[in-house]
Amino acid sequence: MCGIVGYLGCRDAYPVLIKGLHRLEYRGYDSAGIALISGDNELNVYKSKGKVADLERFAESKDISGNIGIAHTRWATHGEPNDANAHPHYSQSRSLALIHNGIIENYTSLRAEMESKGFTFRSNTDTEVIVYLVEYIMQTNRVDLCTAVQLALHQVVGAYAIALISKENPDEIIAARKSSPLVVGIGEDEFFLASDATPIVEYTDRVVYLNDEEIAILRRGEALKVLNLNNVEITPEIKKLAVNLSQLEKGGFPHFMLKEIHEQPRTLQNCIRGRINMEGTNVVLSGVIDNREKFLQAKRIIIVACGTSWHAALIGEHLIEDLCRIPVEVEYASEFRYRNPVILPGDIVIAISQSGETADTLAAIELAKSKGAFIYGICNAVGSSIPRATHSGSYIHVGPEIGVASTKAFTGQVTVLSMLALSIARQKDTIDVDTFTRLVKELQDIPNKIAKVLEQAEAIRDLSKTFTYAHNFIYLGRGYNYPAALEGALKLKEISYIHAEGYPAAEMKHGPIALIDAEMPVVAIATTDSIYEKTISNIQEIKARKGKVIAIVSEGDETVHNIADYCIEVPRTAEPLTPIVASIPLQLLAYYIAVNKGRDVDQPRNLAKSVTVE
Ligand code: M6R
Repeated sequence: MCGIVGYLGCRDAYPVLIKGLHRLEYRGYDSAGIALISGDNELNVYKSKGKVADLERFAESKDISGNIGIAHTRWATHGEPNDANAHPHYSQSRSLALIHNGIIENYTSLRAEMESKGFTFRSNTDTEVIVYLVEYIMQTNRVDLCTAVQLALHQVVGAYAIALISKENPDEIIAARKSSPLVVGIGEDEFFLASDATPIVEYTDRVVYLNDEEIAILRRGEALKVLNLNNVEITPEIKKLAVNLSQLEKGGFPHFMLKEIHEQPRTLQNCIRGRINMEGTNVVLSGVIDNREKFLQAKRIIIVACGTSWHAALIGEHLIEDLCRIPVEVEYASEFRYRNPVILPGDIVIAISQSGETADTLAAIELAKSKGAFIYGICNAVGSSIPRATHSGSYIHVGPEIGVASTKAFTGQVTVLSMLALSIARQKDTIDVDTFTRLVKELQDIPNKIAKVLEQAEAIRDLSKTFTYAHNFIYLGRGYNYPAALEGALKLKEISYIHAEGYPAAEMKHGPIALIDAEMPVVAIATTDSIYEKTISNIQEIKARKGKVIAIVSEGDETVHNIADYCIEVPRTAEPLTPIVASIPLQLLAYYIAVNKGRDVDQPRNLAKSVTVE
């Protein structure tokens, strides 16, 4: 939520910052702004409601000179998206400018205190109070900017990634983080700053990920300095970025989402690579091997996640219970964190997150940690907060996911969960060799099977036209495919704004079937599995009430073809792996319906890719 960019060096800062904002726009896109210190030491702030392109139009006639600047793209939490609430925010005297990602929880009391001292605020945000406070501390305590930031942050409760510049010191950016991500890029005589590495990757591959309550001092002509809030100097750990620029471009596709859907055969190859041996007789996840005894002794596994990652967790529950015979509970991280969950010795908590920055998931991890649990992370974004907060884990290695609607991360998460379950089951001896070998072989073949589904993209596009004007959708699945139905419904609602519900197919008769009439499209996942016959009965119940059924069926299926209105075939695979292939046509269907409706597919309204606020 909210994207932060900063630049200090010899280049013109404006183009670097604007390009960076475009790369971070997926994090929030209701308003944007930029602050630059010009050659004659003016601190110019330009901001505008809307997208980064609106900011560019607004700024094009202004003075955009300067080699130092900070910029922000916003996802509003406090105060509606308008010009005044957009960041950067000036201090009272306009000699400082600040950008912020996160939420300042005690801003009302801080603001009231500042107002009682005669300060007048210009926005309704929680952010503005920080920059006012910093300036007030500088003036009253006669300290430099960095010290004032340290003192101000001692008074602030909440989450923040901030960056400040001062017209009194045009050669310095001060940045700090707590519970919101911040990365510093180190170039030749220049520094970059961003919420994640995507704006940095084309300039340098040397980065430092700040930790909570660390302050970075980016000063012209000096090395990066990192301090904590108590002024203790910390040696920054410089990491090498593995992301390349082409991964951040659309590569000829009209949207990142479509590119990411089509990437899945390759991303899943990358996910599996090196983890299954040539002969297909062994699955090795280093995190599992390193913690073998913990997994073998586990009495229970609790999986915490949000959104799409929570759907992947539900599939993980089936996989682990089915193959490893370990009881599994799946929890919304946002609920788990505010309960007083029972964590017993021998419990393992698995946290799943694409971004690795989701505030609720991070809080659930901290809570479970405080109760003594061993925490295993399954993440995509390398170097993000969750992999650093967990004891061990596995990356899904599907590359940056930019479309707000998660696609390749979902299939990557399910693939890692499949490997995790297989690896534990093999070691626990809860799976026989033949079943293990068959599942591993099927898993290796999943990328080819996805490629086959993708060959039907045109046909799915044609089919989507029939449903452009539907007002509601129901998605049904059973067993392993129930979470896939939930995920299909989520995809449709978040990018097309059509109301969609996912249900276990047999649950319909307990109430939701009242919704069925000739106007109701029902997507039913009816692949040939152990409950195929039962699912067919559920489809019959829909058809008897004149619902329009779009069925996802196994290749060569005839029975459902004779009942459903439309069928999309997917290659046959082992039952535990069907949700991976079945989710591909659901991604495509949602995508094309949203395109037909003229929606902003990559940046749907009200959403942001990385939910760093609770
Ligand atoms: O980065 P995370 O996986 O932790 O994100 C969790 C959800 O916010 C995310 O999956 C969200 O539901 C997506 N927009 C789904 O497409």
